[in-house]
Amino acid sequence: MAIKNFEKVWHNGKFIPWNEATIHVASHVVSYGSCLFEGIRCYDTPQGPCIFRLKEHTDRLVNSCKIYRMELKFTRDQLAQAMVELVLANNIRHCYIRPVIFRGFGEAGVNPLNNPIEIYLLAWEWGKYLGEEALRQGVDVCVSSWQRIAPNTLPAMAKSAANYMNSQLIKMEALTNGYTEGISLDESGHISEGSGENLFVVRGGKIFTPALSSSILPGITRDSVITLAQELGYTVIEQAIAREMLYIADEVFFTGTAAEITPIRSVDRIVVGKGRPGPTTLRLQERFLSIVQGQAEDKYGWLSLCSQPVAVAH
Ligand SMILES: Cc1ncc(COP(=O)(O)O)c(C=O)c1O
Repeated sequence: MAIKNFEKVWHNGKFIPWNEATIHVASHVVSYGSCLFEGIRCYDTPQGPCIFRLKEHTDRLVNSCKIYRMELKFTRDQLAQAMVELVLANNIRHCYIRPVIFRGFGEAGVNPLNNPIEIYLLAWEWGKYLGEEALRQGVDVCVSSWQRIAPNTLPAMAKSAANYMNSQLIKMEALTNGYTEGISLDESGHISEGSGENLFVVRGGKIFTPALSSSILPGITRDSVITLAQELGYTVIEQAIAREMLYIADEVFFTGTAAEITPIRSVDRIVVGKGRPGPTTLRLQERFLSIVQGQAEDKYGWLSLCSQPVAVAH
């Protein structure tokens, strides 16, 4: 998907033009994948541009860096503030914000510790990640032959670029075989997640989602959906889920910053429920979108209004 970028990029505390946001190919990250990143949406609301769950995304970014022993010269509050400034500096109404923190050009060799840490914040316009019709009609997916990263190999709780080599295998296999997305299983054969989304299964009026122990990224949309589902009176169960639940579920859906809440209408060509987005998925999707678009009350304080001083209280 081509991107329409915004001109100003934040680099280590200063704004630079998009075309100058470049690195040397000898940078540590190029050979060894040493990059931690985030994906955050800024929504156009009647109050002005609002960043969704800025605090939680900043926390996950800094925690990802902590796992990889990266000490940052900026605090969580400064990074959160910089993301707000990025939106303001580019005069943005809505966008996808991509912070990247990586090991730059210093020494050769695997040891990352003597390379500089570079922080960039970028923004671009991003439409519907899984296709324009995906949110309304649902997508056709497969179970991948590629397993998700096993515990104690690459840490799944860190949003690291290296993890996305696994995601790329899952995605390419799905696309090559005519599916929109792939679902990976964890080391023990239970459901893990999509290449860039968490997964939910609805069955018998209850909502199931894989637990953190199934090698998933702790998704911020996942967390939001759990909160909204509980508010609507659903029982949400986080547990190991057997693959075959996908085939006998009433509803299955993906969640993610890019994918938002995307219904799944078939898995491995087996129709899910009635083959169209189900009532629970649509209810949650409607509730989620109305909050993020500023149409419903933001009772959980999920939106950071960019025109006001950032208040994420770290
Ligand atoms: C592998 C993976 N799982 C889950 C998610 C969903 O996480 P979030 O809702 O925080 O975007 C993403 C997207 O960032 C992802 O890349």
